[in-house]
Parts: sequence; structure tokens; C-alpha cells
Amino acid sequence: MYEGKCILTGVKPTGKPHIGNYFGAIKPAVAMGHQAGRFNLFIADYHAINFMKDPAQLQKDIKDIACIYLAAGLNPQTDYFYRQSDIPEINEITTILYAFTPKGFMNKSHAYKAAVDKNLAEGKPNDDGINMGLYTYPTLMAADILAMDTDIVPVGKDQIQHVEIARDIAGAVNAYYGKELLKLPEYVTAENVAVLPGIDGRKMSKSYNNVIPMFEDDKVVKKAVYATVTDSRPMEEPKDPEEIIVYQIYKCLAPQDKVAEMAAGLREGKLGYGHCKAMLLEQILAETKDAKQIYDYYMAHYNEVEAFLAQGAAKARPIAQRTLARLKETLFG
Ligand code: TRP
Repeated sequence: MYEGKCILTGVKPTGKPHIGNYFGAIKPAVAMGHQAGRFNLFIADYHAINFMKDPAQLQKDIKDIACIYLAAGLNPQTDYFYRQSDIPEINEITTILYAFTPKGFMNKSHAYKAAVDKNLAEGKPNDDGINMGLYTYPTLMAADILAMDTDIVPVGKDQIQHVEIARDIAGAVNAYYGKELLKLPEYVTAENVAVLPGIDGRKMSKSYNNVIPMFEDDKVVKKAVYATVTDSRPMEEPKDPEEIIVYQIYKCLAPQDKVAEMAAGLREGKLGYGHCKAMLLEQILAETKDAKQIYDYYMAHYNEVEAFLAQGAAKARPIAQRTLARLKETLFG
């Protein structure tokens, strides 16, 4: 469907994902990337230093995220898998793009506005603790995208605006010089990807503290699954499965026949919550077993991952170099 196109996505190293991130975003992104002619996936470490100042923690998070994407099926031979900081041309392109970025775009950017809103809600001055890296974030993100001649950026809703800004900046550069120096990227949002409920029934999210973790010990996963909120109705009481959180989560992960089995059990009062939780845990462990094995392997053989990243940078860098050369030739005459 995306033959001959370049799909690009960047990931910030922010610690291990939960099953909602993994099944709702990471795996679908890799699967979609594999429909493209060229799939670029990079670790956004320059973005990360805007909010992460501890080098040991940063390296740990980079290691985790790299191994997790490999576990999700990233192919280091055919995909372009690299670290942002290994492509210094991205930063040069960022500087060039600043000259075409209206300051008002930055004022309107979601990431910045959210930080301001948070400050105001806490009674602090507007820009308290906000660094220029966060403020100018969309321009660096535009350079990430435009450097690689990207056609398509798969995004969550929160990132649509950033891709639109990249497109607008590219359009401004092209219009100014009357030629297509930069390819205009498009975004696609993943459709029909289920939003996983968390163990309290709200959307699964770290900020709600309601997640089922992944790439952790089975015991840690079990603890979260068994903490899923239920009520005190006895097993025999017939229940509407749609109202039961364990079932809502199960429905997103299990095959249809098993989902139907749990639904019938709940409706007929033949299945207790303990049993449902055991089914959910079994399903999660089965679904995540292979990925966890790959993850554990690469965590223990990280030198192999380092080599993949170096290979990826060697493939990706010439593309960014060409983009930069094109820009400099025209801009500096
Ligand atoms: N902004 C993205 C996020 O917060 C990460 C990112 C950085 C990115 N550069 C990108 C995503 C380029 C897509 C394309 O998750």
C-alpha cells in the first residue's frame, strides 16, 4: 500500500512501554513501516535531552527502546534504524529551518502550550522550567522528517500538528526558492487500533497509574492484572461483560472464540473474576512471550544492537547529507 514510499517515525526514549503502547502503537507502527519502500525508525535522543538530563538514565532508556523495537519486529537489515544524534546533518538542517519557521508556530505548538497550561494550573509563571529545546521542538522534528525525504509519518493524534508544521515549513522553503528542495510529508493516523483500557477502566496511561507493564518479570505483570478493578457481585449473578474491565481488556488481546467464552461465562454467572483474571494473564503472557524473549536477548547482547544502529546511521546519513547539500547550494548560492 505504501510501496516506493518512505515512512518515518521517531521515538523518544521514555522508559518501558505498557501493553497499551506496545499493542496500540509500537507493533502497528512497525507493521505499517514494513509496507513502505523504506522504513526509517530513529531514536530521538536530541529530543530526549530537553527533558532528561541524567546521562546514565538516558542511556538506559535508549537501550530499552532499541531492544523493544527489535522485539516488535523491526528489521535492522532492511529498515533504517538509527540514533538521531548519529546524523548531525539533522541539526544543521534544523538551523536552516529556523530561518523559515514563524515564531508564532512555536507559540501555538501543543507541546509548548501544554507545558504553559500546566504551569498556569500550578500557579507558576507561563514559561517556568520551559527550555528552548521544548519551545522549538517542532522545528527539530521537521528536520527529522524533511532530512530523510519522508513521504509519510504515522502519528498519534497529539503529533498531527507537528507534521503539519513540518509540511508548512517545507512549503515555505520551496515557495521561497521556487523549487522542490524539500519533500512535503503527510501524516497518517493509525485506524482501528483499539485503545486499551487500563486496570481501572480509564484509558491505559502511565499518568493514571493504571497500566499493565511489559518487558518485566511475569510476577510484575501478574500483580497488575490481578489489581484490575472488579466489584463484589457473586459469581452466580449474571453480568453484562461489557461492564467488566477485565473483559474489556481481554477483548482487545484475545482471539474471538476465547473472548466469546469469557463473555458467555460472565453472562451466565459461571465465571468468577479470579478466573477471568487468570485467563487475561495467560493471554498477555502468551502474546508477549516471543517479544520478551527477543528483548531479553538483545538486552544481554547490546553490542549487536549498537552495531545495528551504526549500520542504520551509515545508510541514513547520506540521505540527510544530500538534503543538506541541496539546501546549502540554493540558500548560500
Ligand atoms: N515527537 C514525537 C513524540 O513525542 C517523537 C518524534 C521526534 C517524531 N521526531 C519525530 C515522530 C519525527 C515522528 C517524526 O513521540
